[in-house]
Amino acid sequence: MGFSYPSMKVLLFFHLLFFTSLVPSISCNKVSLGLYYESLCPYSASFIIDSLAMIFTDGLINIVDLNLVSWGNAKLYGNQTFKCQHGAYECLLNTVEACAIDVWPDVKDHFPFIYCVENLVYEHNYTYWETCFEKLDLDASPVTRCLNSERGTQLELGYAAETNALQPPHKYVPWVVVDGQPLYDDYRDFVSFICKAYKGTAKPSACTESSFGRTRKLKMNLIDILYGEETSKSELFRALPAVFSWLKRNKIVASF
Ligand SMILES: *[C@@H]1O[C@H](CO)[C@@H](O)[C@H](O)[C@H]1NC(C)=O
Ligand SMILES: *[C@@H]1O[C@H](CO)[C@@H](O)[C@H](O)[C@H]1NC(C)=O
Repeated sequence: MGFSYPSMKVLLFFHLLFFTSLVPSISCNKVSLGLYYESLCPYSASFIIDSLAMIFTDGLINIVDLNLVSWGNAKLYGNQTFKCQHGAYECLLNTVEACAIDVWPDVKDHFPFIYCVENLVYEHNYTYWETCFEKLDLDASPVTRCLNSERGTQLELGYAAETNALQPPHKYVPWVVVDGQPLYDDYRDFVSFICKAYKGTAKPSACTESSFGRTRKLKMNLIDILYGEETSKSELFRALPAVFSWLKRNKIVASF
């Protein structure tokens, strides 16, 4: 994939999304957002691509503790083996994503990778998941090591325990839980539930704007970047492909 000059600017846009909103946040006030999902479930993939990526806009990420749990409806047999709803490849990618979180614990580091893999699921091209390392300029070896060792299995067994302990139990995937409360069929509206649950004083602008306002602001920011002056390069350059396709999918950019 060759990304040329205009895409660089899209990246700067992403940089702004992350860093224009660095309000000092008090972690004890953060709202927990749990996503219980399966890597090959089309509804899970589309939620991650079309909705969840919104947590990186308008300061929302500063008040959210995101917990991604790739287990879903997988089943345990005995205490070490498991089967996944969509087969062995799903178990593999669930474990890949668990390993990515283990290796890069910061959400700003692991989310672009998980986004990239789920984007390939969305595009029915997930057997190319390893291209995500290259696309995001990430070192594959720690994830590969985790995947090929007991570590990956242990992480998945931990996710199994966490999923099976949900109260009330999950009924389907994606299952979205905000501060312990499942959102059921309202899961796509998770932003308003997060804002309602937030007890802190540093309310991000995501909580004061309508979703129409949010989208409009995203477009304005983008126009600024595209037609304004390019001032600096971002260390988030590596996140470009994921951001690019997210922007495209959300029709914030049509094409370059
Ligand atoms: C798994 O099950 C076997 C036999 O059922 C038992 O000996 C072993 O301790 C169990 N391992 C764990 C980690 O629970
Ligand atoms: C799948 O991904 C590979 C690697 O990025 C790419 O070469 C191929 O064209 C993609 N196929 C489809 C159907 O998108």
